[in-house]
Amino acid sequence: MILIIYAHPYPRHSHANKHLLQEIKDLPDVKIRSLYDLYPDFSIDIKAEQQAMEEADLVVFQHPLQWYGLPPLLKLWIDKVLEHGWAYGHDGDALKGKGCLWAVTTGGNEQHFQLGSYPDFAALAQPIEATALYCGMKWQPYFALHNTFTCNEVTLKAGGEAYRQRLLDWQAAHPASSASAEQAQSLEGEANG
Ligand SMILES: Cc1cc2nc3c(=O)[nH]c(=O)nc-3n(C[C@H](O)[C@H](O)[C@H](O)COP(=O)(O)O)c2cc1C
Repeated sequence: MILIIYAHPYPRHSHANKHLLQEIKDLPDVKIRSLYDLYPDFSIDIKAEQQAMEEADLVVFQHPLQWYGLPPLLKLWIDKVLEHGWAYGHDGDALKGKGCLWAVTTGGNEQHFQLGSYPDFAALAQPIEATALYCGMKWQPYFALHNTFTCNEVTLKAGGEAYRQRLLDWQAAHPASSASAEQAQSLEGEANG
């Protein structure tokens, strides 16, 4: 199962992220948790979030970039849900081996990130990549949709299709963790008896 942890502070005002979700929501074995809809008061149900993570094979963190980082509820979610003894530390292996994909939209284009001592967009992935690796997850090359301030419907459509393809590619490369595995098992069962 692919779990999308979606963090948009104003989901109903979204253009780019809403479009990305439209493109993938009919895929089999994809669950979307919209954090700002679930927790408008920032009171996160830690157990429910951990259970959703345990059922997932690939966890996707999807959000608009805000001041070069995560929306505040996603940061709080990481602080609260990735508990010691569950996500890391002694016996903390709940996320070990799961895939992790960062799917981010940005208002700026590539030049927007050419500031300061680390003028590369990829540098912004480091905290979330390090967090995933610290928890034993398998980091996937990130998916970024830039230029959302100016992009038109054609560009958005292309971005949505690319996102959908990324998830399909992941499912194809991990058949044991998708519905096709269950189908294969049931076919095998039928063949055996
Ligand atoms: C508070 C705030 C901070 C933002 N910071 C950045 C930023 O640092 N870099 C950037 O490229 N875009 C930034 N943006 C623009 C958003 O990333 C952009 O509007 C969003 O990705 C578009 O997706 P949406 O249509 O789903 O809202 C910011 C937007 C807000 C509201």
